[in-house]
Amino acid sequence: MPTRTATRTHPYTCGSCAAPHAKWVGRCNSCSAWNSLLETRASIAGVAQLGDVQPMTALESGAATTVPTGMAEADRCLGGGLVPGSVTLLGGEPGIGKSTFTLQLAAARVRAGGRVLLVSAEESASQVRLRADRLGAVLDDLWLAGDASVEAILAHADRLEPDLLIVDSIQTVHLVADAGAPGSAGQVRGCAQRLVVEAKARGMATLLVGHVTKDGSLAGPKLLEHVVDTVLELTGDRHHALRMLRVVKHRFGRSDEVGLFEMGGDGLWSVDDPSRLFLADRAPDVAGSVVLPTLEGHRPLLVEVQALVVRATTQHPRRSPRGLDPRRLALLLAVLERRSGVDLGALDVYATVVGGVHVTEPAADLPLALAVVSATTGRQLGDDVVVVGEVGLGGEVRQVPGMERRLQESHRLGFRRAVIPASSPDPPPGLEVVRVGTLSEAVLATGLMPPGS
Ligand code: TYD
Ligand code: MG
Repeated sequence: MPTRTATRTHPYTCGSCAAPHAKWVGRCNSCSAWNSLLETRASIAGVAQLGDVQPMTALESGAATTVPTGMAEADRCLGGGLVPGSVTLLGGEPGIGKSTFTLQLAAARVRAGGRVLLVSAEESASQVRLRADRLGAVLDDLWLAGDASVEAILAHADRLEPDLLIVDSIQTVHLVADAGAPGSAGQVRGCAQRLVVEAKARGMATLLVGHVTKDGSLAGPKLLEHVVDTVLELTGDRHHALRMLRVVKHRFGRSDEVGLFEMGGDGLWSVDDPSRLFLADRAPDVAGSVVLPTLEGHRPLLVEVQALVVRATTQHPRRSPRGLDPRRLALLLAVLERRSGVDLGALDVYATVVGGVHVTEPAADLPLALAVVSATTGRQLGDDVVVVGEVGLGGEVRQVPGMERRLQESHRLGFRRAVIPASSPDPPPGLEVVRVGTLSEAVLATGLMPPGS
């Protein structure tokens, strides 16, 4: 009976049944397959030098040391600060505030004792200086260069030895050694790879700014996500002041952190109590308004979901969501119609999340559905109620993650009742819960529809 492992004395293995053989034969002794023997050891013949292989238990866990940037909200997202030698990509749509953010970050780092080289290949020195005046970022050890070639940037870094290099943006710099035009896929990747190598060699933290277009990811950020250590994304609605800094990828820590900022006349300021901010202008006693404790990363955030229904003026009623997923809205309207008997066929439906927030999580299903019902019947939910839960196609209300945090935050802001999925954990004391198993139950329990209708 042949053994199943190749050994020094049996270096040939059958490719079909894995039986080892002492010498090559045309037909396997074990399974009789023809020409199936391979020399196992031949596979290492071409390897000039082997690396170490060690048991996991023998390895040291090297927790990355971070250097605080001095910008508290950014440091929180990054798990303490930037790691020396690491490369971070900051993506975002044009005009969202990337240059503002990086200049503020640079200034904070300098105030905390660092030296920063800021390369602005997009704007003139006088433009950057103007912004620096506004942001209070006119500092001695904050250096500005306008060069667009990576070679020149590295020459400056040689001279200045900054502990943070910022390149704004990766799409506007180029390698002289490469023929491609700046911004082309080859150049963007080449520049980033070179900067990654140099960052590691010098122990210099590097921040690359990259533009992302509305439809997602034109030449740039997506191309680089695997090259860099950390990917941050600055998002927001340009018509609102709120900006979110999301950690999309992070080799040195958790990647579900979110920083919240407000864009003001003098730059970005961290928002300490976002829930209060979003609910500040809420009009009490309006039908169609429901408060949802949503999660941004692992951060609970209370936002207002609003719905408005009006008689449709065309044959195809409008479904117009803002800050919500259009497919989700369509699906919920279908479920409402089929499972709860709410007739929406002749109504235009508008739904929105207030404050420029974008909510994509399924936890918004139940509040959105109830907002639509409330808007349809004109009955209100009460202004001390929060609603959260996913709705399935059968009209069943499903559990969502992070319920404890959501309820804690609701309680902290003075809400007294929560409409939640039946299987949810117990709420904090002082918060009354209404557990619902189906959408119809939720509609009845909240009194949004008169019984028997
Ligand atoms: P910017 O940082 O230039 O965006 P990006 O680099 O992502 O293209 O900022 C864009 C907008 O921010 C611009 O329309 C002006 C506004 N802004 C403020 O509202 N307050 C400020 O303090 C600054 C510097 C800019
Ligand atoms: Mg910019």
